[in-house]
Amino acid sequence: MIIRDASEADLGGIRDIYNDAVRNTTAIWNDVEVDLDNRRAWFAARQQQGFPVLVAVAGDEVLGYASYGPWRAFDGFRETVEHSVYIRADQRGQGIGPQLMRALIERARGQGLHVMVAAIESGNAASIALHQRLGFTHNGQMPQVGQKFGRWLDLTFMQLILDPRSAP
Ligand SMILES: CC(C)(COP(=O)(O)OP(=O)(O)OC[C@H]1O[C@@H](n2cnc3c(N)ncnc32)[C@H](O)[C@@H]1OP(=O)(O)O)[C@@H](O)C(=O)NCCC(=O)NCCS
Repeated sequence: MIIRDASEADLGGIRDIYNDAVRNTTAIWNDVEVDLDNRRAWFAARQQQGFPVLVAVAGDEVLGYASYGPWRAFDGFRETVEHSVYIRADQRGQGIGPQLMRALIERARGQGLHVMVAAIESGNAASIALHQRLGFTHNGQMPQVGQKFGRWLDLTFMQLILDPRSAP
């Protein structure tokens, strides 16, 4: 398994992981599956904005991916990003998520960013534990702001401060 920047050829694997998460998890609060064109547009937007899309691959198989984008679309949030990380269902629990996240954090530091934000469904114990192990702190919870599978979902915010600057 290696971790590298994604290319166009990885987008089918990324789409499949994304759609499995839509169907089966509360990690993505979307109900509608996406096609390859949707992932192409997403990938192009990330590239245009200079944000990374990393994949964990074995040969030409995508085992997981991680990326970040803007957190909020106001000037003052420009050094804060919100990330996502998804591991293929049959590849979870083998440490791929932590490896992808470490690579993504390094990328964010390399880009001079200041904060990474994770917005996690409050029942997603594996993701909350993963972020805790990586040094993210718990910074709040918003009850019942979402819904999926016929129930309300709570959102937990975690963040990692990437550098020690006391001012921008
Ligand atoms: C959360 C996620 C990214 C963690 O990545 P990972 O590569 O599975 O991480 P790890 O290998 O460190 O395993 C994390 C925990 O998953 C659990 N786990 C173990 N085997 C597992 C399996 N076969 N299937 C699912 N979870 C498993 C364990 O509790 C493990 O913790 P442990 O190290 O104390 O045993 C991954 O499970 C995932 O993609 N989940 C679905 C999408 C998601 O929730 N993304 C995050 C959105 S914020």
